[in-house]
Amino acid sequence: MAKRTPAPTAPPRERAFLVGVELVAQKSLLPLKDSLNELALLADTAGLDVVGQLTQRLAHPNPETFIGSGKVQELRALVEETMADVVIFDDELSPRHQRELERALGENVRVLDRTALILDIFAQHAHTKAGMLQVELAQYEYYLPRLTRAWTHLARQAGGGGGRAGRMGGVGLRGPGETQLEVDRRHIRRRIAHLKRELEKVRAHRMRYRAKRKRARLPTVALVGYTNAGKSTLLNRLAGADVYVADQLFATLDPTTRRVELPGGYLALFTDTVGFIQKLPTTLVAAFHATLEEITEANLLLHVVDISHPNALLQARAVHETLEQIGADHIPVVTALNKVDLLSDPDNARHTLRDYPHAVAISALTGAGIPELLQMIQRHLYETYTPIRVRLPYQQGQLISLFHESGQVERIEHERGGVVMQGRIPGRLLAQFSAWQIPPNGAEERKKET
Ligand code: GTP
Repeated sequence: MAKRTPAPTAPPRERAFLVGVELVAQKSLLPLKDSLNELALLADTAGLDVVGQLTQRLAHPNPETFIGSGKVQELRALVEETMADVVIFDDELSPRHQRELERALGENVRVLDRTALILDIFAQHAHTKAGMLQVELAQYEYYLPRLTRAWTHLARQAGGGGGRAGRMGGVGLRGPGETQLEVDRRHIRRRIAHLKRELEKVRAHRMRYRAKRKRARLPTVALVGYTNAGKSTLLNRLAGADVYVADQLFATLDPTTRRVELPGGYLALFTDTVGFIQKLPTTLVAAFHATLEEITEANLLLHVVDISHPNALLQARAVHETLEQIGADHIPVVTALNKVDLLSDPDNARHTLRDYPHAVAISALTGAGIPELLQMIQRHLYETYTPIRVRLPYQQGQLISLFHESGQVERIEHERGGVVMQGRIPGRLLAQFSAWQIPPNGAEERKKET
């Protein structure tokens, strides 16, 4: 009789206890309850079971333990009662907070924060070389000042001669113990410098690629949105592409670009990138520079909002804040109010339209509203552009590049001291070019004839 092989068992999920603090002096975007719900989703995505939560309202964080000392005792009792392995704070903890809290909560409990959780999810979801480099850089920068147990696994990998940082401590953020705490900081700094150099190469490569795309004169549209809003689903719908879709936070990390046909036979390139979230760690924003450039260099942003989400408007605001942070707030935006199929009354979407700039209600899942969305994108890319002809001396190199980058060049003639460029530019740039404007081609020729 054949021996039966035991069914593979999934490793046990670690138990996480969440802590949220409402700081009186600090206005946060989401109400505490909603922010904690989001943290619970993040924990679930990272493979943890949430076993409880605790909140506190404070004027200022306690310099030692973030929450007050009485609250720490309460937390300790709750952690014991629920047998939690990990305590996760919704706000970023300083290295000191983390150390003091670990000391207060005892040997077997690790203390992490929202940032560590997001970094861990990113580490799980980075697949391309660039994605992995960016996550590794963010992890090292975040962990360098935090040499505690949660860090050790990461440090050991770095000390072991490089390679990606990986998930911090493997499944469920488990650390291997105190023995690895001896870390060669210099080695890690060297690794950070190396990663930055590698990422510079990635950026240079992407820049060349974008320049090639520009020469192909295809406008680019970057999809932006809160995590899980449906960007990948929408890109699949628009391009008939096969982009990974999952009901998970941050399923997409690496930019994916697809060609999409707009009404009237125009073509545009659509890029799906990393989703945003409130309290997006600054280390991550900095490390993801190479990826976020896909957004800052786009001609148009397509902001995907999950309109069925109770906090849709606040999530949209978080997206705007991140766009500001990365310097992309000057790019025109079209908004896709997605998931209308989930609304009990689709009229609700119509009422909400006026809260968002240039908005169309759609369902990436059923295809409802997609033709209208494409019409609006086409109008923004092509019809709101103004035809112009300019004679630019070579000293005006910046304007020449600007025309290439933000406009659509139809014709270039090189003359002795400069170029004559003809094409279309977005209305917002007209003022910058007006001093160099010359009559359109035909007009000049007609003048010569008379
Ligand atoms: P990140 O990778 O986190 O940035 O997510 P994303 O914005 O790319 O979202 P994704 O396309 O992965 O979709 C998230 C979830 O929403 C998936 O389960 C999708 O099936 C679902 N979804 C997307 N669009 C729609 C829609 O129009 N209607 C419904 N009902 N579900 C949708």
